[in-house]
Amino acid sequence: MERIQKIIAESGFCSRRKAEEYISKGQVKINGQVVSLGTKASYDDEITINDTIINSKEEKEYYLLYKKEKTISSVKDEHERDTVTDYIDTSSRIYPVGRLDYNTTGIILLTNDGELSNILTHPSHKIEKRYSAKVSGIITPDEFMRLKKGVVIDNRKVTPTYIKIKKVNKNSNTSSITIGITEGRNHIIKRMLETVNHEVIKLKRESIGFLNLEGLKPGEYRKLTIKEVKRLYSLK
Ligand code: URA
Repeated sequence: MERIQKIIAESGFCSRRKAEEYISKGQVKINGQVVSLGTKASYDDEITINDTIINSKEEKEYYLLYKKEKTISSVKDEHERDTVTDYIDTSSRIYPVGRLDYNTTGIILLTNDGELSNILTHPSHKIEKRYSAKVSGIITPDEFMRLKKGVVIDNRKVTPTYIKIKKVNKNSNTSSITIGITEGRNHIIKRMLETVNHEVIKLKRESIGFLNLEGLKPGEYRKLTIKEVKRLYSLK
């Protein structure tokens, strides 16, 4: 069971805050009954907002997209910029699982399966996301060790599950580093690297758990196989 506003937000219909507004105004029903804030529902319940079903039992769809730069990780953008859903040819109400920054490239999953989305984004499931970053300046051995041991961001430590310097380019005064982490706070990689005074110039997410970008070019996508979906569910 989950809070209804969470299920609504995951359906892509509106934000969690907006969902709370609808609930407070008595505009939300579960299986035909008006509900109040704090009520929980299961993903199988029928949820309506002003009598529109928002979690219809449409077939579940799962996509893996190689996100390009200059793309927003949401369903709609108020400034009419490209969003990740624009790339996927489907009429289902899919939405991205987690977010990548506007200029971050790489792997992102999209689905209309709120339950799986939940599993993948919940920090307790410790699913590793691996990023490669090109940063300004040369990362020193001391800075590398500080990152490896874990750095504190907003009073919480983040310790990489994987870290490796890929390249140091003295001519351009840049370094390339690969970092794996299991959490998903906003701009987390950029903020980790800022703690050792390196600005991220380019960022790409290479993998999410066992999934990577093999066979795809920027802007391309593929459906996940049933086997992959089952494997993702088993990460719970
Ligand atoms: N960390 C960031 O700084 N940006 C992203 O897009 C993803 C992780």
